[in-house]
Amino acid sequence: MASPRHVPVLLDRVVALLAPSLERAGAVYVDATLGLGGHAEAVLETFPQARLIGIDRDPDALALAGERLAPHADRTTFVHAVYDEIPDVLAELGLPDVDGIFFDLGVSSMQLDVRERGFAYAQDAPLDMRMDGHTGATAADVLNTYPAADLARVLRDYGEEKFAKRIADRIVAEREREPFTTSARLVELLYAAIPAPARRTGGHPAKRTFQALRIEVNDELNVLRRAVPAAIESINVGGRVVVESYHSLEDRLVKQAFAAATRSDVPVDMPFIPEGHEPTFRLVTRGAEKAVEPELTDNPRAASVRLRAIERIREDRAA
Ligand SMILES: C[S@@+](CC[C@H](N)C(=O)[O-])C[C@H]1O[C@@H](n2cnc3c(N)ncnc32)[C@H](O)[C@@H]1O
Repeated sequence: MASPRHVPVLLDRVVALLAPSLERAGAVYVDATLGLGGHAEAVLETFPQARLIGIDRDPDALALAGERLAPHADRTTFVHAVYDEIPDVLAELGLPDVDGIFFDLGVSSMQLDVRERGFAYAQDAPLDMRMDGHTGATAADVLNTYPAADLARVLRDYGEEKFAKRIADRIVAEREREPFTTSARLVELLYAAIPAPARRTGGHPAKRTFQALRIEVNDELNVLRRAVPAAIESINVGGRVVVESYHSLEDRLVKQAFAAATRSDVPVDMPFIPEGHEPTFRLVTRGAEKAVEPELTDNPRAASVRLRAIERIREDRAA
């Protein structure tokens, strides 16, 4: 049986939010974070007419999802890409717009489970953390080469780590002795750098630093900042974009992009909105939806999820 970590988060709610856009004949659905294909499988089973474009930057995820979704091979297309490339992916497939796009942000349980990928701090593993497994700088490269001020910025901005400067200074001193290669030394350093009272209340001392390194290594927030508006642009009338975020930095970017799309572009003191200037999107969720019991207990990832959805209600505004 699958472990609880493999259960797709808010699965029924995601499918329900996509339903109005995917129930139509010939609907095209983009899963921008295919992962193990859990959400995608439910979508393919629920909407027998929908075609899936499954994107992931991790080739291993695409291979595993491909096996899982083999029974639906006649209506699936898998693309190895970073999700801010959605417009290029769709252009190459000859699809000017699509009916639904879903993002389930972050790392998959598979990435966390494979020790060599270096995402988990619970075991000593190479400090890699690259989601695609081989392109660009690793977490070890970041730790061993960034100036102390840049390290502190990464830990503060991406990890919301209160002791960012103290940790960064210790990393720089420690790497002079010997460069970092595996996670155990870093975890040990974090235990020593974070004062005991903060350790008791702030969760595992490595959690925030590992999150920050992962975001930096994969340039996650900059990619997301480009990707959500690009996804919004790619949606046809009646189509929906649904996003699950797992920390406040991601959710803030999603919220801002959705707010920009649902705002009217006329001055606030204008007594009416002239034709052609109405907002082109509407929010489908009120604020960010969270998971509730029993999912909160059954699925650890659900604890931090924030779900938002938006729907296109008319073509782009007049220029
Ligand atoms: C949380 S998992 C998705 C799990 C999936 N919904 C399921 O039910 O199995 C997130 C996936 O998104 C991928 N990913 C993260 N950032 C990405 C990006 N910028 N572009 C493409 N894929 C990305 C990761 O490699 C990972 O496989």
